Amino acid sequence: MDFPLNFKGTKVLITGHTGFKGSWLTLWLLRLGAKIIGYSLPPDTKPSLFELLNLKREIVHIEEDIRNYKYLEGVFQKFAPEIVFHLAAQPLVKRSYLEPRLTYETNVMGTLNVLEAIRKTESVRVCIVVTSDKCYENKEWIYGYREKDPLGGDDPYSSSKACAEILTQAYRKSFFSSTNLRKTHQVVVATVRAGNVMGGGDWQEDRLIPDCIRALSQRKPIVLRNPEAIRPWQHVLEPLYGYLLLAHKALLSENPSLYAQAWNFGPFERDQAKVREVVERIIKLWGGGEYQILDNPPFYEAKILRLDISKALIELGWKPKWDLKITLEKTINWYKTFYEGLRNMRKLTETQIEEYEKG
Ligand SMILES: NC(=O)c1ccc[n+]([C@@H]2O[C@H](COP(=O)([O-])OP(=O)(O)OC[C@H]3O[C@@H](n4cnc5c(N)ncnc54)[C@H](O)[C@@H]3O)[C@@H](O)[C@H]2O)c1
Repeated sequence: MDFPLNFKGTKVLITGHTGFKGSWLTLWLLRLGAKIIGYSLPPDTKPSLFELLNLKREIVHIEEDIRNYKYLEGVFQKFAPEIVFHLAAQPLVKRSYLEPRLTYETNVMGTLNVLEAIRKTESVRVCIVVTSDKCYENKEWIYGYREKDPLGGDDPYSSSKACAEILTQAYRKSFFSSTNLRKTHQVVVATVRAGNVMGGGDWQEDRLIPDCIRALSQRKPIVLRNPEAIRPWQHVLEPLYGYLLLAHKALLSENPSLYAQAWNFGPFERDQAKVREVVERIIKLWGGGEYQILDNPPFYEAKILRLDISKALIELGWKPKWDLKITLEKTINWYKTFYEGLRNMRKLTETQIEEYEKG
């Protein structure tokens, strides 16, 4: 079956397009025929997936701060996007302890700026606000969190994402309500909560997969903070497919307000694994390496975090395609290819997208 989504000629604004998820999303949407306007800070890792994919020349590329409301509103007015994917964020828990103010300003006021710019721009039909699985009040229980569970967050990053959820809900009720859709406004606003994503091209600090790859490629031991922690691991293409499907349905449906809600995108229950297990499998796929465990983790992290994905399965028709085994194989294959010196990472990334579409 052909991949069912078509964004041919659709104007899509992506915030955070220079980051890990944003680069995969930009490439995928280009393949699906969209015209992209990207709004972000310059890439902040070396290497950078955005640069490796050489995406700048095929999109409208804007380097500016999401906190600069005036500039952002000008971009919305000038380019009149139909779909907005809002990914720009300070996305790191550790950095959020060091720079809480920056984290809240970027993640909360940044989201406010995007929603406010949408309120002032008639062209927008769909906005997908990317938050996190960490937005839930973590009860350290074995059950997966559902979309209606209470929001919370014990660290500045997690709580900033819960704040972004609450803010978006208020905008949805106040300005973009389902009852007034197609009457006083045109916008479907959804929030999306994905798990821990992996895939080629992530070099952020203090994330498990990039930490493993940095250590393995330098023949150093991988240092683990919380080996027994359980997380909902998934390939980056899985939630991105969820975001695309959601946007596509919201754009074309006869009843678009069905999609103006919060959505979880995570793996099936069996793929929610411990850090230690994931690392042991990575070492095997890499062909060698070792890990050591820190005696005193430098900051607090939840022990168990699972997502319930029933709603996306039943109401959206989305489901994970790649299990943890395939996800790890694709991810490690991508990094091994890179570190073996094959620099045409665009081709490999496109091949993986194509495989996902067919899978
Ligand atoms: N990677 C994960 O496992 C994961 C899991 C759940 C949710 N998320 C969310 O997904 C989104 C993307 O995450 P990522 O992993 O690609 O992170 P990333 O750090 O690779 O990318 C972040 C992007 O946001 C942009 N950005 C940061 N501050 C900005 C500012 N002040 N103004 C404009 N742009 C700014 C960066 O330039 C970059 O393009 C984030 O909202 C993150 O919270 C990520």
